[in-house]
Amino acid sequence: MTVFSLETSCDETSAAVVRDGRILANVVASQVPLHAEYGGVVPELATREHLRNLPAVAALALRQAQVGVGDVDAVAATRGPGLPQALMIGLKAAQAMAYVTGTPFVGVHHHEAHLYSAWITGSPPRGEFGVFEPVVALIVSGGHTLLAHVESEFRHRVLGGTLDDAAGECFDKIAKLLGLPYPGGPAMERLAADGKAGTFDFPRPMLGEENDDFSFSGLKTAVRYFLDRHPQLREDRQQVAHVCASVQAAIIEVLVTKTVRAATRSGVWCVTASGGVACNGTFRRELERACAAKGLRLRLAEPRFCTDNAAMVGIVAERKLKHGCPGTSPDADICPGWSLEDCGMEEAPRPAENASREEGARWMETGRI
Ligand code: KG4
Ligand code: ZN
Repeated sequence: MTVFSLETSCDETSAAVVRDGRILANVVASQVPLHAEYGGVVPELATREHLRNLPAVAALALRQAQVGVGDVDAVAATRGPGLPQALMIGLKAAQAMAYVTGTPFVGVHHHEAHLYSAWITGSPPRGEFGVFEPVVALIVSGGHTLLAHVESEFRHRVLGGTLDDAAGECFDKIAKLLGLPYPGGPAMERLAADGKAGTFDFPRPMLGEENDDFSFSGLKTAVRYFLDRHPQLREDRQQVAHVCASVQAAIIEVLVTKTVRAATRSGVWCVTASGGVACNGTFRRELERACAAKGLRLRLAEPRFCTDNAAMVGIVAERKLKHGCPGTSPDADICPGWSLEDCGMEEAPRPAENASREEGARWMETGRI
């Protein structure tokens, strides 16, 4: 089966071709330089950029895969969560392609795509699912930090999630306070390499709580007050490096401890981690160490599949079709506030039942749901 997939949920325009689990092409046009000027993603600019780039990105993916439109058996796109207008670009383009080619369409949940990206491995890369074993999955993207218990392929239960700021958001906001460029995570990781993690003792929010929820806004606020008390610190590169290393250590300790605890409690023998923050080298090493100490196997998404890409969307769509999923209606709408609980092998709920007023307000404020 050959699947053509698109991803336009935030600030990456991506198209991929997946055939029988193999990724034949995965083209990603990043908008980072565009949004860096504003210190974060500007939804209107992101939408226009998707519109501008999508035709070329799609054509390049097909060319690299040496696949013609007529060879495509199914078309997929990210349906939610994400920036509403941005989602619309990829979803409607994919549905139009499915319609004219008479092929099935699959609308994919963005976090489900991140979740299963942990099974993409090898060179050339492919989705290696084998005999599926239950896992606890940590998804750490820009707008979400969540833990899910995946009992079998496409059967998952959300154990806990972000109560306010997600880990990626926390990196981005603290980087902004320090005057570092967007996106904050990679910028802070680079500086942290020159700093000492124990220099400043920042809080580890919700670390001691016996639940699987996350909240990083307290950490951000603590750093803001700390910087207010030390206004000269931003001028001293070494001190900034110490802050980056200390913040990074706080975020990682919370992520790693809560993930391993959830896995142990759930009785699984394997942990996965994926999403943009999982690119972080220190996080990867710490999670590896903690899993090894508890005898847990670890599937870490490869860094190139941690950040947003269409290959993970295509992999999920193909697996679902192979498992007998009927696909998504070719005129289905976007689901900007779609919960990971509500996806799986069934059709997504209609957006009106799903997107809440709070999610809308949050998007208006932060550009993220
Ligand atoms: O998954 P992703 O590409 O997009 C969303 O779905 O949101 O994640 C982007 C997030 C940003 O917050 C970015 O700062 C963070 O991932 N990130 C990192 C690193 N690379 C990307 N955070 C920490 N360390 C990194 N190396
Ligand atoms: Zn993402």
